[in-house]
Amino acid sequence: MQVKSSLVQLIEAVNIYDDSQLQIFEAEKVIPFAIKRVYTISKCRPNLARGHHAHKVTDQVLFCIQGSVEMYLDDGKLNETYSLDDEKLGIYLPRKMWHEMRNISNDAIMIVFASQYYDETDYIRDYKAFKKYIKSENKNDNDE
Ligand code: TYD
Repeated sequence: MQVKSSLVQLIEAVNIYDDSQLQIFEAEKVIPFAIKRVYTISKCRPNLARGHHAHKVTDQVLFCIQGSVEMYLDDGKLNETYSLDDEKLGIYLPRKMWHEMRNISNDAIMIVFASQYYDETDYIRDYKAFKKYIKSENKNDNDE
């Protein structure tokens, strides 16, 4: 069942158009955190799905600067799918947000800005474990 929500937060890059297109991503301005890591995803083989995980403390912003990708977001209660096909708009992937990248076009090039260095222990790669984690986090919040 598709549950409608408002999990999608879009971030607009600064764009300058002259005889070409210049896109500018400034940390703590356009990107709402200090950037520790930048990585790209490209040359995706057909029918590839990526993601299928959440992070415990890493916040990210993903731009699809060429082609398109369908972003599936799930916060443990609600889920939403957003088709990212405008290079000017990035999607905010906050910590504790399960995300999947689907229907990635052959020509897609994604650039991702992350608030933390790579650390495998920050990943939750099992959906059931994610649900459990979210439940325990919510319980801790309510106990405080
Ligand atoms: P992963 O984050 O699982 O990719 P995606 O979310 O796009 O499906 O990363 C794929 C592999 O690359 C995994 O073995 C971890 C490694 N990796 C790094 O070593 N450093 C990084 O910064 C990232 C993003 C991944």
